[in-house]
Amino acid sequence: MMYTDLEGKVVVITGASTGLGKAMALRFGNEKAKVVINYFKKDPVIDEMISQIQHAGGDAIAVQGDVTQEQDVKDLIQATASQFGRLDIMINNAGVENEVPSEELSLKDWNRVISTNLTGAFLGCREAIAYMIENKIKGSIINMSSVHEMIPWPHFVHYAASKGGIKLMSETLALEFAPKGIRINSIGPGAIDTPINAEKFSDPKLKAGVEELIPMGYIGKPEQIAAVAAWLASEESSYVTGITLFADGGMTKYPGFQAGRG
Ligand code: NAI
Repeated sequence: MMYTDLEGKVVVITGASTGLGKAMALRFGNEKAKVVINYFKKDPVIDEMISQIQHAGGDAIAVQGDVTQEQDVKDLIQATASQFGRLDIMINNAGVENEVPSEELSLKDWNRVISTNLTGAFLGCREAIAYMIENKIKGSIINMSSVHEMIPWPHFVHYAASKGGIKLMSETLALEFAPKGIRINSIGPGAIDTPINAEKFSDPKLKAGVEELIPMGYIGKPEQIAAVAAWLASEESSYVTGITLFADGGMTKYPGFQAGRG
């Protein structure tokens, strides 16, 4: 499936050199979009991604930047505008997590997760919205949330708080900027096979434990999330704003009740 209206559109994706960000960058490349790959740490895969995207008929540049730094996010939008002349789609994807019992969670870790996942997404939204208003662009903004914007997650209280924050931030911004034609939506992935889960999924017992929480019975692939992002970015979803689109194999549907219990 291709969305022809994405051809030539300019899309910024944060944290785009790995996992879901990478899959989205390649998907938008296949749609012949112009992709700005924001990355945190230099990685040889980025050059390969750029040539893959160009080969597919799109275009791409890579811009280093830390989403927790206001100036870096401003520079990211500035680099996009000077290279590609506009910005149509902003995907705030960068995110981090670490497992720790809440009574031992350091303020440093709390701040790191909140400032990357929530404040970083806010800065991306703010800068993209300001640019879109100034340039009269009816753009699409996508925030990478999680099933943990609604499912509590012990040992990951900072992560769950950041994603819960994403939910109301996105909904509020959707309401505020609907009159301008700027759409703001979130994606709520379930368990997807990316580097963030690499350690967990390399242990067969832990992996099986996660699969039990998924009614569809398997861990999702990054391309399945990229497909959701392509839809939310395209005109096919032109009347959709303020939603979280869960792509989770049914994880948010109370799998414990599946066998008719309760
Ligand atoms: P990942 O670890 O491969 O991707 C995260 C990316 O964010 C990395 O490329 C990392 O370098 C980048 N990043 C971290 N701190 C940054 C900063 N300060 N500035 C710029 N970039 C930074 O993991 P994945 O799975 O691709 O995660 C992407 C998003 O999807 C995250 O927001 C995560 O919370 C979310 N998510 C992932 C799920 C999964 O099962 N994989 C489930 C639900 C949500």
